Amino acid sequence: MLAGKRILLIIGGGIAAYKSLDLIRRLRAQNATVTPVITNAAKEFVTPLSVSALAGEKVYQDLFDLTDEAEMGHIELSRAADLIVVAPATADLCAKMAGGHANDLASTLLMATDKRVLIAPTMNVRMWQHPANQRNLATLQADGILTVGPNEGDMACGEFGPGRMAEPDEIVDAVTAALATGPLAGRHVLVTSGPTHEPIDPVRYIANRSSGAQGTAIAQALAALGADITFVTGPADVAPPSGVTVMPVQTAVEMAEAVKSALPADAAVFAAAVADWHVVNAAQSKIKKDAKGSLPVLKFAENPDILAQVSGMKKGRPKLVVGFAAETDNVTQNATAKRKRKKCDWIVANDVSPSTGIMGGSENAVTLITKDGSQDWPRMSKRQVADRLAGAIADALGAAGDT
Ligand code: C5P
Repeated sequence: MLAGKRILLIIGGGIAAYKSLDLIRRLRAQNATVTPVITNAAKEFVTPLSVSALAGEKVYQDLFDLTDEAEMGHIELSRAADLIVVAPATADLCAKMAGGHANDLASTLLMATDKRVLIAPTMNVRMWQHPANQRNLATLQADGILTVGPNEGDMACGEFGPGRMAEPDEIVDAVTAALATGPLAGRHVLVTSGPTHEPIDPVRYIANRSSGAQGTAIAQALAALGADITFVTGPADVAPPSGVTVMPVQTAVEMAEAVKSALPADAAVFAAAVADWHVVNAAQSKIKKDAKGSLPVLKFAENPDILAQVSGMKKGRPKLVVGFAAETDNVTQNATAKRKRKKCDWIVANDVSPSTGIMGGSENAVTLITKDGSQDWPRMSKRQVADRLAGAIADALGAAGDT
């Protein structure tokens, strides 16, 4: 899949740098060319010799080496690649990227490049959660930087949580998705997925049974056709796909904000099972059981209808807006009415009655509803539904052309 692709791999100074050696092997096994750049800090973890030996290429280390007339300049180096991969992307490298620093070879290349950049962040869990790091990551995502990981698990520092670098095979998948060429190359598609959690108090919330499986499969299928995906996901059971920009949210209000910030997009697929209401009198501290047996009373307010909001946009509306309708009765009839009410282009309707085993299961049986009528698709895996839907979206955007 990666034959002939040129990857500029920037290795940052974190303990996970050892995994970058394996990453080089795996990229080369797919016939990609890997040009390695190593920061000074990374040299404390892996040696330039091992990096260079595995890459089969010279390893670039020093900004001022490159200013020599005889050498490749940093501008050329930053642009000769098809993709820049930063693995490990340490907190410091992320901060430099977010701030636009250019005080060493790695940061200068990242500033000078006109190519897409994929980062595999890794750091101590507290550093990952630090507001400064979260701000930097949000800036990078808004700048269109692709991310893969970090994963949750045991860390070399003895702590547990998010901060482990994605595994080399996950990074290879993300590279493949980032370099995918296909009918959706250059198109930005927004996908919402998963349930939302609406708090009752700091420890309790209202949720639904959505696993996020269908939304994740759709994002994967669209990415495989070359689309740039922004994946806005509630707390789902399945991991988000690699090689897409992930915006994790908890509540419907947060999802609406994330969707707004991710626009414009060529198409938007709203596969999330968004809660219809949130609790307006959610407590700031845990609600205690009353000794006299009086019960808490929850007051609800309607959540923003994200699909309807985006479908109704006067300016900057995605060319194709696809909604979902999870119904238990009169599926086609209700979904047809929903398409009109919400003003979206297509509705993917499915029967989520418990007897179908669809909600939380691996298969789906859907009806695609467009302005021209309805089309029943046979029961198939959620991945197959996703592939077919992604193909239909590619056809529709292709027919819409560039406007
Ligand atoms: O819940 P409902 O049947 O109205 O959902 C239909 C569609 O609307 C789905 O695509 C869902 O993602 C979207 N929706 C939304 N915001 C809401 C409720 C639903 O985007 N608050």
